[in-house]
Amino acid sequence: MNIARSVDEARQLRQALPESVGLVPTMGFLHEGHLSLIRCAAAANRSVIVSVFVNPTQFGPAEDYGAYPRDLERDLSLLKTEGVDLVFLPDADALYPPGYDSWVDIGELGTRLEGASRPGHFRGVATVVAKLLHITRPQRAYFGKKDAQQLAVIRQLTRDLDFGIEIVGCPIVRDPDGVAMSSRNTYLSSRQRTAATVLSRSLILATELWQGGERDATVIRNAMETLIQAEPEARLDYISIADQDTLREMTRLDRPALISLAVRIGPTRLIDNARIPPGFPD
Ligand code: PAJ
Repeated sequence: MNIARSVDEARQLRQALPESVGLVPTMGFLHEGHLSLIRCAAAANRSVIVSVFVNPTQFGPAEDYGAYPRDLERDLSLLKTEGVDLVFLPDADALYPPGYDSWVDIGELGTRLEGASRPGHFRGVATVVAKLLHITRPQRAYFGKKDAQQLAVIRQLTRDLDFGIEIVGCPIVRDPDGVAMSSRNTYLSSRQRTAATVLSRSLILATELWQGGERDATVIRNAMETLIQAEPEARLDYISIADQDTLREMTRLDRPALISLAVRIGPTRLIDNARIPPGFPD
């Protein structure tokens, strides 16, 4: 397994890889969700590149950039076990040297949901992903449906700017209690961890209502809200029931929808989502 720390090194080592190449961008502190993307990439490509970079430009000033969990040694040993060919491990200066001042702005799609709660977040995500794609020139890049809006933003970016790279969305990996795996779950106390099940429970409730014939988005949203409000550790940020391509809110669930939510459990902000009909492809 090769490790590149500079852009030049990454370019050189990538050059030597057999085609096709799959890229899995991550911020490290790897879990089964990340590993599922790597396995997806390995199944469809001869070479796999994983980037591990906690991207400062996608964090707001009051967010957890400094506290974001890091464990490079463990990450590298997991990546080796998975048979990854190349790990790109830049530091912030390697991607954003002094004088860096070019940004990829995503339009309307980037202003909704997470974009409304975290201004500038998708500008940072789109910019770093554009750089990673240019540096590693993969045929395919893999992203989790856990971050459904991020996946939609990256599809928009690569389509609009003619990247010619296939973007592959992979299923959400959950712990046995239903909580979607996330590096940020490490912030939760055991009581908060139990409370965090409220996100997936509210999505199951929404799915059951839909399966029972309910098509009024307000009824479904209210039922989810009531469930979340009954959990004392949880503070709702948003619930969205939206068209899965444009993320515009829907009033009637008469076509495929993305139900997504953000909830604070203590100081930790968690997100989750489900598709209606269940399992409908993105
Ligand atoms: P990070 O949160 O480390 O996630 C890296 C990739 O793993 C993302 O595509 C994310 O959707 C996916 N992922 C995380 N948890 C998952 C789960 N439980 N099931 C399936 N996939 C999951 O997302 C980022 O990093 C960054 O924004 C990044 C794209 C690397 C740009 O900095």
